[in-house]
Amino acid sequence: MSVTIKSEKEISIMRDAGKILAQVHEELKEMIVPGITTLDINKKAEELIRANKCIPSFLNYNGYPASICTSVNDEVVHGIPSKSRILQEGDIISLDAGVIYQGYQSDAARTWGVGNITSQAQKLIDVTKQSFFEGIKYAKEGCYLYDISNAIDDYITSFGYSSVRDLVGHGIGTQMHEEPQIPNFRQKRRGMKLQAGMTLAIEPMINIGRYDVCVLDDDWTVVTEDGSLSAHYENTVLITKGEPEMLSML
Ligand code: MF3
Ligand code: CO
Repeated sequence: MSVTIKSEKEISIMRDAGKILAQVHEELKEMIVPGITTLDINKKAEELIRANKCIPSFLNYNGYPASICTSVNDEVVHGIPSKSRILQEGDIISLDAGVIYQGYQSDAARTWGVGNITSQAQKLIDVTKQSFFEGIKYAKEGCYLYDISNAIDDYITSFGYSSVRDLVGHGIGTQMHEEPQIPNFRQKRRGMKLQAGMTLAIEPMINIGRYDVCVLDDDWTVVTEDGSLSAHYENTVLITKGEPEMLSML
């Protein structure tokens, strides 16, 4: 399947899906305190998603066993919620969640500190979030896809961080993963021209150390190979002729 351009009707459903997801993240943020388990967060997420007439898109996706991903410290993405993973003061946690509302998807991730965290960890979280906003300066009709990738990578490398190569952002719509793939690291070409009506999930995954990652024995959890901290920030955005519309932000 190739890149799809969404109709006004589809966009209006994706706006609703995104608003609900943004609200879910706002509520989950309040739960991030020392002593809570990642399974507690997953339970709350699933309740909130279903209470809003949505389906948690991650649940059973390629056999994934939970409603959201909870990735702590050196875990990059796809951490599986567990009752034995108790958050400790000083941890950082990335929450990645997706919803399906009336057949349309939204996907967003946030990284939070648990209690007091080091200034080094806070800086990684802030730079990762800002790299998304640097990237979407080019998320508009007339720009090229890899302008986004290059802007993200240039920004984070200026802090000495690395952008994960093995995982990318993606188009989104009736499917969680649609074309195109959106790398978060520098590309040799400029890629496809962006057009109004494209909906993209842009999601920098940034490591303090090297970009190399590996997958744990649970076949899901992606961790940094060097054990360095990693942060993730993602939103579903609509390409327009002007500024991108942030679908999964309040
Ligand atoms: N949010 C992730 C992505 O953008 C998907 C999570 S993987 C799943 O690709 F298996 F948990 F769904
Ligand atoms: Co995604």
